[in-house]
Amino acid sequence: MTKAALVYSTKYGQTEKIVNYISKKLKDAGLENDVFNLEKGNDPNPHDYDSFIVASPIFIGNFSKKVINWIKANLPILKRKESSFFFVCMNAADPSSEARDADSMLRKKFVKLTLWSPKLLTSFAGAIDYPAYNWLIRLILKRISKQAGGSIDTSKCHEYTEWKMVDQFVNSFLARLSSDVAIHK
Ligand SMILES: Cc1cc2nc3c(=O)[nH]c(=O)nc-3n(C[C@H](O)[C@H](O)[C@H](O)COP(=O)(O)O)c2cc1C
Repeated sequence: MTKAALVYSTKYGQTEKIVNYISKKLKDAGLENDVFNLEKGNDPNPHDYDSFIVASPIFIGNFSKKVINWIKANLPILKRKESSFFFVCMNAADPSSEARDADSMLRKKFVKLTLWSPKLLTSFAGAIDYPAYNWLIRLILKRISKQAGGSIDTSKCHEYTEWKMVDQFVNSFLARLSSDVAIHK
């Protein structure tokens, strides 16, 4: 069986929560894996791993610089091995056509920035953690959330992640991995 590295950045914890959930699901399915939070200075030796899942949160329309730099530095190996990417943002929770357009722009921006077009590239809805923000960010997020039909109750964190979609991502990743292993046998 192969070994996977899950590499990510997070500021308020939702990307980390999704990565840890995926890590457990992969372990339950028998796929050994390690998680690396780039914000804490942890990064894998890519040669120790056969597959990768990379993840970034979105802030003001941007991917994490640390994640983008890590991808750029490891591009040849990511292209050679089974590797996937997802980003975590609020757009993904919003069904409006504006939000769908913004999501598709982010996907294009990612490919342009990294020159990497993973077969599995998706987005998951994150969380709005009002208590963790300073007053200005809380105010801005409250306005954005109101516009997008989200909660404006600033007394708590609101999680929008659809875990069934994360399960589907895990299943697709495992399916790709097993067909890849079969091809290279
Ligand atoms: C200051 C700030 C800016 C954000 N900008 C965007 C954005 O441009 N587009 C978007 O869809 N979500 C945006 N979000 C929502 C975050 O992507 C979401 O909260 C995500 O869960 C953050 O990931 P993390 O908890 O792993 O840090 C923003 C959130 C904050 C606090």
